[in-house]
This record gives sequence, C-alpha cells and structure tokens, in this order.
Amino acid sequence: MNGDLTRRHGDTERGPVIATSFPLPDEALGLLGEVGTVAGPHGWRDALGEAAALLCLLTDTVDAALLESAPRLRIVANAVVGFNHVDVAACRARGIVVTNTPDVLTAATAELAWALLLAAVRRLPQAERSLRAGEFHGWGFWDYLGDGLEGRTLGIYGMGRIGRAVARRAGGFGMRVIYHSRTPLPADEERALDAERVSFGDLLARGDVISLHAPLTPETRHAFGRDALARMRPGSVLVNTARGPLVDEAALADALRDGPLAAAGLDVYEHEPAVHPGLLELPNVVLLPHIGSATRGTRTAMAMLAARNVHAVLSGHPPLTPI
Ligand code: NAP
Ligand code: GLV
Repeated sequence: MNGDLTRRHGDTERGPVIATSFPLPDEALGLLGEVGTVAGPHGWRDALGEAAALLCLLTDTVDAALLESAPRLRIVANAVVGFNHVDVAACRARGIVVTNTPDVLTAATAELAWALLLAAVRRLPQAERSLRAGEFHGWGFWDYLGDGLEGRTLGIYGMGRIGRAVARRAGGFGMRVIYHSRTPLPADEERALDAERVSFGDLLARGDVISLHAPLTPETRHAFGRDALARMRPGSVLVNTARGPLVDEAALADALRDGPLAAAGLDVYEHEPAVHPGLLELPNVVLLPHIGSATRGTRTAMAMLAARNVHAVLSGHPPLTPI
C-alpha cells in the first residue's frame, strides 16, 4: 500500500487496511484504529489491493470490477441505507459481508420528506422567489395560494422504516394514510398508524400526495412512469426521497406541465447529479440536492454505524446491520 495514502492511528499500523471513500469523524477513526489502519479518503481506490474493509457511500459503485481489485476484502460497510449501488450477490459469492445504516437516518429522512411535501403543497419556493424579486407589495387576499393538507389523503409507496415514519407524522396534519407495499404491516401496526393497505392502482387513484419510500430494484425502477403518473389524481403531488430512477423524470416534467400533477418535491434524481432540464424550468417542482439524511447528528450516526460494522467483522464478530 502507498504510505502517502494511509492515515495511521496509534500503534495499529500492522493491522488490516481499512479503506474509506469519505472523511470519518474522529470517534470513528478511533474505533477503527483499534482493529486496523485507515487508508483514504484521498486515493482510497489505490488501497483496495490490501484492504480488508471498505467504508463507502451511494456514489461509489461496488461492482465486480471493484471487487476484483480488492482480493482481501471481508466487509463492505455501506454508510447509507440504500444499497442499489452495491452488487450484493457478487459480494456474497466472494464471502464478503455487506452492511448498511438502517434506522439511524429514518427520522431525518422522514422529516425531509415532510419538508418537501409542505414546500410543494404551499408553493414555498415560488413565494420566496417572488419576495426576493421585489414582488411582495403587502398582504394580498388572493396571493400565493397553495393547497391544504387537512382531510386529504397521503399515499405511501414502500411502507418500510422511512415510509412508516412519514405515516406516523401524518396524524398531526389531519391526513388519512393509505399505503402500497408488497407485504402488509402487522395488523396492530396498521391500526396504530391508522393506515390502509391498497393496490398500486388505488394508491394512484386516491392519493392527494404520494410519497416514495421503496428501494430501487428492477421492480420499482420507473414504477412512476408515464402511465402511472397519468393515473394520479388531478392536482395531486408527488414527493420522492427514495431513489431517482423510481420516477421517469421526462414523464414527470410533462405531468407537472400538462397535468394531472399540481406539484412535486424531489430529493433524488434519475441520473444524479444531473437533473432533467424539463424539471429545472418548471416553477411547481421543489428540487433538493439529495439531502434526506443530512443532519449533523444523523451523518455522524451513519459513519459510526458503518465503523462499528467494520470493527465487529474485523474482530471476528457478526456485523450489526448486515444486508
Ligand atoms: P426499508 O425499511 O427496507 O423500506 C423499504 C420498503 O419498500 C419496504 O417496506 C418494502 O416492503 C417496500 N418495497 C420493496 N419493494 C417494493 C415494491 N416493489 N413495491 C412496493 N413496496 C416495495 O428501507 P428504508 O430504510 O425505509 O429506506 C427506503 C429507501 O429510502 C432506501 O432504499 C433508500 O433508497 C432511500 N433513502 C433515501 C435517503 C435520502 O437521502 N433521500 C435517505 C435514506 C433512504 P416489501 O418488501 O414488503 O414490499
Ligand atoms: C441515502 O440516500 C441513503 O440511502 O441512505
């Protein structure tokens, strides 16, 4: 391994190499220093030949080619929850453990989904842009009108950890919750959330706001394509904090311009970091740069969970959050 690329801690430099593609907090570096020598983030790919562990992000494609260059790898600690960028089958075939960071980011991402939802429904970016442009000349009875949420229906696509956290917050806004997931929730949880499981068609037909929380899989890719978008309610709103490719962005731009959608709130994109030009020119879509889990506390918790997974595996223990 190239010594210039290695960040060494204490007397652990004889231990296994732990490559990281992103900067880690001191607490995580301290923990990893107990079981190995951290290399990266600068030049982390060059450390893969010796690495026993890799801490990586959703912007790092972990495919057969990467694994080929990392013959000693024992764990891929993916420091986000989605793992569509990791070839899990190829890792398993090589006996490599793959972990992610569930739960610690659930609240932050659910809060961001609500932020997008509220911003889209009440047209906050348009109102703010108008004020900054000097167009606010005093309170106007018919100015800046959006829609309300009370009594309306929130549709959740993918009722997992984040979908349920979004649903839990709906009661405070007086919204009814429907959801579509392949597996029904346990009856007591469905009752506690006051949520009704519906078919995909009913989700589209009944949701005033539809919020996406399913992982990106071959089945969910373009689930919200031209046909599904056309079947959404007139004046409805789409919120996506899951993965961009769940939505056909060209079709979404058309549905926002010509109907039936009134607005959309997006945190994720089909071809990140690119955003479809048709979306960029529309006023009725709120666009955020993939910040669902971006709170200081959450990102630290994600980095620590990834480090704990590496620590466990390199110490001969089972991982905490395996995929
Ligand atoms: P999770 O607990 O695994 O929930 C995903 C849910 O989607 C599960 O309930 C699953 O249930 C459902 N699902 C899977 N395939 C489906 C399908 N074909 N149709 C309908 N539902 C389906 O995951 P999570 O922790 O809530 O995270 C969800 C996703 O959010 C992640 O995969 C990630 O891509 C994204 N995310 C984004 C951000 C951000 O920064 N914007 C932050 C965190 C997470 P069934 O298998 O029973 O259907
Ligand atoms: C972020 O997008 C995540 O999957 O954690």
